[in-house]
Amino acid sequence: MAAPFSVIPNSGLASAPEEAKREDAPKPPQQFDGLISTLPLNQEWIPIRLRKYQDFWIPEHSLPGVMAMQQNFEARPDDVFVLSYPKSGTTWLKALAFAIMTRTHYSMADHPLLRSNPHECVLFIPSVFSNGTASKLEAMPSPRILGSHLAYSLLPDSMKGSGGRFLYVCREPKDVFISRWHFNDKMRPDSVEPIPFERAFDLYCDGISPYGSIWEHVREYWEESLRRPEKVLFLKYEEMLEEPVGTAKKLADFVGCPFSPEEENEGVVEEIIRLCSFDSLSKLAGRMMHKLNTVIPLQTTSLYRKGVAGDWRNHMSEVMAGRMDAVTSQKLERSGLTFGISAGMEADGM
Ligand code: A3P
Repeated sequence: MAAPFSVIPNSGLASAPEEAKREDAPKPPQQFDGLISTLPLNQEWIPIRLRKYQDFWIPEHSLPGVMAMQQNFEARPDDVFVLSYPKSGTTWLKALAFAIMTRTHYSMADHPLLRSNPHECVLFIPSVFSNGTASKLEAMPSPRILGSHLAYSLLPDSMKGSGGRFLYVCREPKDVFISRWHFNDKMRPDSVEPIPFERAFDLYCDGISPYGSIWEHVREYWEESLRRPEKVLFLKYEEMLEEPVGTAKKLADFVGCPFSPEEENEGVVEEIIRLCSFDSLSKLAGRMMHKLNTVIPLQTTSLYRKGVAGDWRNHMSEVMAGRMDAVTSQKLERSGLTFGISAGMEADGM
């Protein structure tokens, strides 16, 4: 018998009929509310309230889902996880991973990414727990593709163990900050003043921004990628911009579905890159015109701003840039990870 509505493989995403069931949907976990209210609070990134949890500042509205995920999420060996510090290229990496891993399911003319944003195709695990719909995760066919912004040390043990492989994307911290500042500004209700740029800068340098210190975040995944290269594919946003074909092939190899010579000859790699490009996804988002399914109201178009490297130059003084570079050098000292800041490279190279 035909299914009453269609579900995109690996996404848990269902079409319209599920909307009708929302009233009966399970409620978000409430057993953590007492604990969350005792955690240190920062309210300066309005409208996001941050709570310091296990050394990272996590948006309060995500914490019930994060805690439920930590307690209950069971990773499978063939899961693929898209992981990142927010504003580092998550949306792009989700699109690429999804398009590459499901490429035999869809034609380019009728691709899910033409009508659903990448976060609907690759769900954030804590959001699924927050929505009270964790059973969706169990029902998803393998290999699942799922996402999270959590630092490595906050992931559930089953993920850190043999459960699945990680795709991690990092980005030059100054550009991440600029992207975050603009993104936050879009979330802000008109009645609320924006967080002053200089104050946001200080908070970010002190690790008090959504999902905590970017330097601790990248360092943890970087070190894990050195320890277990078969477990963690560590990507840089700027290298993805420079080498999209190389990135797509590396990603496909890593998740165990390499492009065949025939596919390469037929231009499948380039087609996927085009579909997932900034131009393509941002235009599609304009046509979608619907709100992102988050606690904080946001249009889908908010996911896309400029999509370039080095935009920090248009917003940050040399003094601020120097200060942030110094934090980066100090925090990543002896890690072997660089962002090209001391090598005299251009901001759009790493
Ligand atoms: P900017 O604000 O600098 O433009 P995330 O997805 O982790 O929230 O990251 C958002 C950043 O990635 C934004 O950067 C956004 O414009 C950029 N981005 C989104 N989709 C992209 C794509 N397909 N290619 C390149 N950059 C993209």
